[in-house]
Order: sequence, then C-alpha cells, then structure tokens
Amino acid sequence: MAEQLAKNGQVSGKLEKVYEKWGHGNWGAIMTGNVMVDEKYMGSPQHAAIQVNDTAEIEKWQGIARAIKARGALAIMQINHPGRQSPVGAGSRGLLEKNIAPSAVPINFGENIVAKTLVKLLFGTPAEMSIAQIQTVIKQFVDAAKFAQQTGFDGVTIHAAHGYLLSDFLSPKANTRTDAYGGTPEKRAKIIVDIIRAIRESVGAKFSVSVKVNSSDQQYDAGSDAVLRQIDVLVAQAIDFLEISGGSYENPRMIGGDDLPTRSERTQKREAFFLEFALAVRERHPALHLMLTGGFRTRAAMNSALESKGCDMVGIGRPAALVPDFPRSVVGIGANKELSEAEAGLQLQKVKEPWFLKHLPFPQLQRALAGGAETGYYGQRIGQMSKA
Ligand SMILES: Cc1cc2nc3c(=O)[nH]c(=O)nc-3n(C[C@H](O)[C@H](O)[C@H](O)COP(=O)(O)O)c2cc1C
Repeated sequence: MAEQLAKNGQVSGKLEKVYEKWGHGNWGAIMTGNVMVDEKYMGSPQHAAIQVNDTAEIEKWQGIARAIKARGALAIMQINHPGRQSPVGAGSRGLLEKNIAPSAVPINFGENIVAKTLVKLLFGTPAEMSIAQIQTVIKQFVDAAKFAQQTGFDGVTIHAAHGYLLSDFLSPKANTRTDAYGGTPEKRAKIIVDIIRAIRESVGAKFSVSVKVNSSDQQYDAGSDAVLRQIDVLVAQAIDFLEISGGSYENPRMIGGDDLPTRSERTQKREAFFLEFALAVRERHPALHLMLTGGFRTRAAMNSALESKGCDMVGIGRPAALVPDFPRSVVGIGANKELSEAEAGLQLQKVKEPWFLKHLPFPQLQRALAGGAETGYYGQRIGQMSKA
C-alpha cells in the first residue's frame, strides 16, 4: 500500500519506522507501496520515486530493506508509472505538461459534465507516447529494479494493474495503438514483456521479478479472453509470480468499491474479490505461483483459497494498516497461543464517505470518490504507524 510518506519523491525517515513495525509481524514477504519510476509523473505528491545515484536515498532504502528483512520476511519493491492517473501537480513536470499514456484517451468517470470537468482539471487528456518514450519508460523500470537490488531488496513487482500506465497498455479501451505496442491482446502486452526481459537481463536469475495484473474488467470487452491471453504471454517470461487484483480509479474494484453493498453471498463467504478469475488463470497455468489480493479477512477464507489452488500466496492490504502484525495476532502464524477458527479473523468497517457523496447524482463518480476516501483513510493509518 502506498504509504504517502515522501516529498518530491524522497522518502522521509518515517517510512523506515513503518516497515520496522511490519518487519516484526511475521509476514512471509512485505511489498512496498508503489514507487514511481519517474519523478516527473507521480500517483500523488507524497509518493516515493526512484532516485538513481542519490546516496542519501540509497541509504534510506537500504534501511527500509533491512527493517523489512529483520525477522526474515522477503522484501519486494513495487515499481510503477501512473500514466494518465497522475494528477496535476503530482510530479516534477510542468503544470501544463500532459500525462503520458498508450493513447490520448482520458480517464472516464462518467458522461456527465461534472465528471468530465473533474477529469479535465485533475488529470487532463494524456499524450500518446512515442516509441522513444516507450523505450525511456522501459529503461526507467530497469533502473528501478537495479535500484531495488542495489538497496538490498529481494525482488521487484511490476505494477501492471489498477489503471496505471502498464495496465492501460493492456486495455483495448485505453490503448488504441496500431503499432508494435497495440492492436492485439499480445501486442498490448509487449511493453511489459520488454520490461520483464530487460529487467531479468540486468538483475540475474536469483532476484525475484513478478507482475501485478487486473482480472478481466470494464477495461476489456465483455466476454473477451484477452486478459487470459495476455497472462499467457507474461507467464512465458522469466517471472517468479503473478499477482491478481482488479479495478482502477474509474472503478475501484481493488478495494471492493464497485459492489460493496451488493456483493454476492458467494463472494462475501469467500472474501477474495478475484478468486474466480484466479481459478481461471490456474486452469491455464498449473505451475504458476499465484498471489491473490483483495478482501481476505479470515484464516478460514485464506486457507480455502489456498486449498482451492486459486492462489499460492495471499495478499493483505487494509488489515495490515490497522494491525501491523496481522499474520501473528490475527491469523495465528507463530503466535504464542493457538487461535480458534472463530478468533482468526478481522472484520473491517467500510470507511464513511464524505456527506456530499450521497447527494451526488453520478454513481460512477460517486464510486470513484468513495474509493479515494477509503484509501485516504488507510493511508492516514499507515502514517500513524510511524508515530506509535
Ligand atoms: C492506502 C492504500 C494504498 C494502496 N496502495 C497500493 C499500491 O501502492 N499498489 C497496489 O498495487 N495496490 C495498492 N492498494 C491496493 C491494495 O494493494 C489492495 O489491492 C486492496 O487494498 C485490497 O486488499 P485488502 O482488501 O486486503 O485491503 C492500496 C490500498 C490502500 C487501502
């Protein structure tokens, strides 16, 4: 989870404190919040960005990696380019400089004037990337992976989910290119293939390289198997695991934002938002190491997802912001006392939305803003971890 503890891309000492707490929690692996590969384009002004050759930043990240690994957890850095989801003012680009994206397709919060104005003011219409810009981004991801390796991390995960740049390359709606990087599901995945190959070449075989992708969603045509075909292409590369999530700013499904009140009974019981899709991936790739994130709250549901073979690794987000040693104190891993099945879980309340959202007659925009409120709340909780 993005910790929002940086300024101008540079991390504050608070970040190490947060990871110290998590480092003592009996997690198997700890993944950082998304670290920007280019400080020109940030997901928020408080995001961290890779600072190649900056000794002070290298030392701070070394401290973070040590804090994560203090009790044996693996340290994975998530690396990201926000693409068209970089708000104005987030990043060192000029105020009038456009975001970059596979195609000049703006975010869509709905067809009404309020939503369109908000997009215009906050994100603008991105500029279609040239091939040279694509090459630059590929190199930036490689530099980020080298930075993670240099600072003592065990691996990187390439963020190709949640509507950010690489996720948009995968989407037929956001990527309307007809060159080598668009036109078919496989070509839309090419930039990620290029990044994986270039990273692997530079970090060697022992450094973990993984990718986070969305399940099939509104960014794809209904009924299409395009995402599964793209996953086939990614899995054919030298990756160590694949993480499944979903959603984007347009529809924050990653935090259960699109169907929280009406979520099917089956999903409620299973907890995991994207288990069905993970099972479809498993059918095509029996040997793939799969990580599934979103919705897990109880040990019973985690075990059931593992036993169903829908995943090999369970990703935990929001509960970790409330209970830093969630694996020990809630799941019971390495705990002093055995936790019964009824005890081994944590129920989270939905974060209260700002009052005006209820009165907003635009459901899509309402959903997007409610998603922002939810992540905002947990972001603050992460910030508080650095103080306690
Ligand atoms: C405060 C906050 C920050 C997040 N930042 C990231 C991020 O940087 N990268 C990412 O892949 N997902 C991010 N997410 C999404 C989570 O990784 C996860 O997919 C989501 O919270 C659902 O899992 P959960 O139900 O266990 O919380 C964030 C979520 C929250 C609440």
